[in-house]
Amino acid sequence: MNDPRPRVAAAASDVDVAARVAATIRAEIRAGAAYAVPKTAGMIELSANENPWPLPDDVRAAVAAAVAAVPVNRYPEGAGDRVKAALVRALPLPRGAAMVLGNGSDELIQIVTTAIARPGACVLAPDPTFVMYRIYAMQAGVRYAGVPLSADFTLEVDAFVAAIAREKPALVWLASPNNPTGRAIPLPAIERILAAAPGLVVVDEAYADFAGTTLLPRVLEFPNLVVMRTVSKIGIAGARLGYAVAHPAWIAELDKVRSPYNVNALTQAAVPVVLAAADTLGAQVAAIRAERGRLAGALAALPGFAVMPSDANFLLVRVPDAPALTSRLRTAGILVKNLHGGHPLTANCLRITVGTPAENDALLAALARP
Ligand SMILES: Cc1ncc(COP(=O)(O)O)c(C=O)c1O
Repeated sequence: MNDPRPRVAAAASDVDVAARVAATIRAEIRAGAAYAVPKTAGMIELSANENPWPLPDDVRAAVAAAVAAVPVNRYPEGAGDRVKAALVRALPLPRGAAMVLGNGSDELIQIVTTAIARPGACVLAPDPTFVMYRIYAMQAGVRYAGVPLSADFTLEVDAFVAAIAREKPALVWLASPNNPTGRAIPLPAIERILAAAPGLVVVDEAYADFAGTTLLPRVLEFPNLVVMRTVSKIGIAGARLGYAVAHPAWIAELDKVRSPYNVNALTQAAVPVVLAAADTLGAQVAAIRAERGRLAGALAALPGFAVMPSDANFLLVRVPDAPALTSRLRTAGILVKNLHGGHPLTANCLRITVGTPAENDALLAALARP
């Protein structure tokens, strides 16, 4: 592609710039890599745990009308009150619970981590779990400790409670269902962890709709619980909206860390319209759950494949050679997440999002080819 930008006559030398970057940017940032998002155009995308179903035409038209009416010359409404009201209508929230919105729950992870990041603070989470917990802890300069899951990817509660006693974490992350394992954490285990934790426990319910359980109605029962959720996995990933629910005293502090206008006006207009189509979203979640069972059964029948039980919209699958299979599938136009090399427990594992029946059939057909 032709770059239309003018050449600068006297540009600083690359060597000089590199030296200044090295002297200025923190070593742990320089050692890392930007979050890699694969190009998805023309591919069957089964690597990002999205809802594979598009919105129906009538809902798209309603979204278009709502977005067209947004006065984009103005900043968005600061607190996102319309979105919050729509979420309150859609969710089993107890009276008196407060909410903060994020630009995706990713941003809420950053907000919570920033809020607790005093010198010496520790963040604790099962291992493996969602990678952004560790990345934001590193960025905030707080210690991160992972408590290994058992070989079958379940949480060992005694070991986790012992780690809490040892590390005294300011913040505990519990993704339930967990990514990349797909397993929900049993409620008694969460309750024990809440009772043992001296600081904040955030239960990340990004995939809760596929498990059919939520702690939202009970969020005010515990003095140290935040329930964090997202609209991404139920079909609105492109809008980037996450929300955290807790006692108002917690939310008031998190709100101070939030950037002004962090949720843009187009998202604030579109999301209530999509949430109002609750029947459609519910039917899509039900279809994904049904496909999850069918896909799991078909994958488990393949030689050398082991499929872990899943409460989410994806499957963790151990295969004979995960890197080779990932590239073979990419050549066939199918993206899956290769977890090999990320963690010893996920050696030769793939994370495969449940697609539409046609997408899953294409995956199975590609896997059946020699
Ligand atoms: C467990 C978990 N939490 C949070 C997120 C972030 O979701 P979003 O930023 O789209 O709301 C993800 C995304 O994959 C996830 O797997």
